[in-house]
Amino acid sequence: MSGGETDITRREVIVAGAAVASLAVLGPGQALAVPSSGDQNELPVALHVNGVRHDLNLEPRVTLLDTLRERLNLCGTKKGCDIGQCGACTVHLDGSRVLSCLTLAAQAAGKEITTIEGISDPGGGLHPMQQAFLDHDAMQCGYCTPGQIMSGIACVAEGHATTDDDVREYMSGNLCRCGAYRGIVAAIRDVAGSGG
Ligand code: FES
Ligand code: FES
Repeated sequence: MSGGETDITRREVIVAGAAVASLAVLGPGQALAVPSSGDQNELPVALHVNGVRHDLNLEPRVTLLDTLRERLNLCGTKKGCDIGQCGACTVHLDGSRVLSCLTLAAQAAGKEITTIEGISDPGGGLHPMQQAFLDHDAMQCGYCTPGQIMSGIACVAEGHATTDDDVREYMSGNLCRCGAYRGIVAAIRDVAGSGG
């Protein structure tokens, strides 16, 4: 396979879910009403995701992860374990990283939710962390990658990326079964070193 073909494939991995996300994304400040399932136990919940307000009717027990994937078609956020052990579901709430499988959707009401689909610039350019993951070959299958990138961005913002050991410690909640850790650490250190 040529280098160019590889780049295209891996870029698609990096922006995982972007094509699906475009089905649900409106302009900034616009609201999207998502149909209810008709369940009597549902409550109205307004979620702000990647700059777009979504008015939903949700059961109180529904997680943010399932809401993003199954109601909003934002499937870039991955479900690995669904019990808080792998980090694949990492998103940002008001800029802080959280595990969306352990967060109820209702808990996210009134906060700005950012997913992997929301970090690229409006023109489609990659976020520096996405580019660094490409540059450092920081993935194999790519399943953990959206969570790694979201956690990596937060890790830099928290000031926890000043040494390789620091990155390993503060990224320890994000598992990679392919073992791409060397590239992941290098990518995060690269972004941190460039002012991130
Ligand atoms: S799916 Fe949330 S931590 Fe694994
Ligand atoms: S790249 Fe396969 S799980 Fe991390």
